[in-house]
Amino acid sequence: MSYLLALDQGTSSSRAIVFERSGRIVAMAQQEFAQHFPQPGWVEHDALEIWQSQRATAQAALRQADLRAADIAAVGITNQRETTVLWDRQTGQPLHRAIVWQDRRTEPFCAQLRAQDLTPMVRAKTGLLIDPYFSGTKLKWLLDHIPGARARAERGELAFGTIDSWLIWNLTGGAVHATDVSNASRTLLFDVQRNRWDEELLALMEIPPALLPEVRPSSGDFGRVMAAHLGGEIAIGGVAGDQQAALFGQACFQPGMAKNTYGTGCFMLMHTGRQFQTSANGLINTSAAQTTASPEFALEGSVFVGGAVVQWLRDGLQIIPNSGAVQSLAESVPDAGGVMFVPAFTGLGAPYWRAEARGAILGLSRGSTQAHIARAAIESIAFQSAALLQAMSRDAHAAGSAPLQELRVDGGACVNDLLMQFQADLLGIAVVRPRVIETTALGAAYLAGLSCGVYAGLDELSAQWQAERRFEPSGNRAQAAERMAAWEHAVRQVTAA
Ligand code: G3P
Repeated sequence: MSYLLALDQGTSSSRAIVFERSGRIVAMAQQEFAQHFPQPGWVEHDALEIWQSQRATAQAALRQADLRAADIAAVGITNQRETTVLWDRQTGQPLHRAIVWQDRRTEPFCAQLRAQDLTPMVRAKTGLLIDPYFSGTKLKWLLDHIPGARARAERGELAFGTIDSWLIWNLTGGAVHATDVSNASRTLLFDVQRNRWDEELLALMEIPPALLPEVRPSSGDFGRVMAAHLGGEIAIGGVAGDQQAALFGQACFQPGMAKNTYGTGCFMLMHTGRQFQTSANGLINTSAAQTTASPEFALEGSVFVGGAVVQWLRDGLQIIPNSGAVQSLAESVPDAGGVMFVPAFTGLGAPYWRAEARGAILGLSRGSTQAHIARAAIESIAFQSAALLQAMSRDAHAAGSAPLQELRVDGGACVNDLLMQFQADLLGIAVVRPRVIETTALGAAYLAGLSCGVYAGLDELSAQWQAERRFEPSGNRAQAAERMAAWEHAVRQVTAA
């Protein structure tokens, strides 16, 4: 009974991983699902397809591991955050496609709120900036555009949830409508210092409270998976947004410990303990995964297009047959040959926050080839992450904290050695890749394992973390500064309105 099943519902695919108590992966199943782009800057998912693909991967992982429900101590859920689902409590049917975190359709409303000078109030309560990224304005859009939805919401007939709530609801057959603090902290509706929904923000976004899930700590009771889904009931014992789950899976429990996840986007989080630390450099505060009812925080920088740039090389530009082919194409040239790629496909997130920016490939010459573009695409992931770390270091310096010593990395693209070395060179600190790079799923499994007694406490989890490879910075700092200056110059070109 000491196996743990993590459901990792990401932006590009649904995955399920069975872990041993030691953190070793026993089985893993993955299913991609459709991305819908109804208009430029809009991104939607079919919530039913998400649920079905997640259920199918959970079943497949158990089959692969040759385990039954009774062998699993608990299920942990982790998910793409902010993506907004509205469904009918009676039928369980979504009223609309889910509006994905990358979707920019609510920028006009966000601009109105910013113009009313509401940023300081919103920031003090939520830790966030007013941006279409977060769920609140997406939910308002759904209520404004689906005929009759607001009245039905007021009558208590509808439910809102981020993907975690949507999965919990379906897994428990509609018995539990809940979320955890780390997901709630991404909605723009939640007071992270008091750990509760905020009436003033709900009124501002015109959100009827009857829609909202109950908010619980990230490790604890979230109901039981119905026997019909996995062949037997299993307790759901842990829930966290994917980036906070990765911070947890990287055993970054102490203030000052940081990780960067290279997924569809890139997300750098630094634990700040019980301190709600406002950024003066374009970062946000967010709730960390919490094992108790006491608030814990992290500083976060979110890059909207990270690994997704490789997907675009594959599906949009069609210069590589699969994502894995990018490293050899990029390595076939010694450098990007002056090409600079700013992948602002859905605007720029932290630290720039320019929703209206769009992507550009700059510095092309007659000698530029597919390989230079591929290399520039890889480098863009590192440039954006380096800009986050610079912002984080400035904040840490202002707070009198010690500078970051190393950055723990995870996510699909961290297997790319070229990218990791380039990252270390830009940052000037060591980049450390752990043995288990599935830290998002591992974090969810740990949260579930803590609540059901598989683990005694955080010390045990810290002791389990092991490095696989350290990338030490090479090259000189002046060269790195020059490269960063070239990047910032390119960013100015796509944001100059
Ligand atoms: O905030 C969005 C984030 O949670 C999405 O993560 O891993 O699906 O790119 P990922």
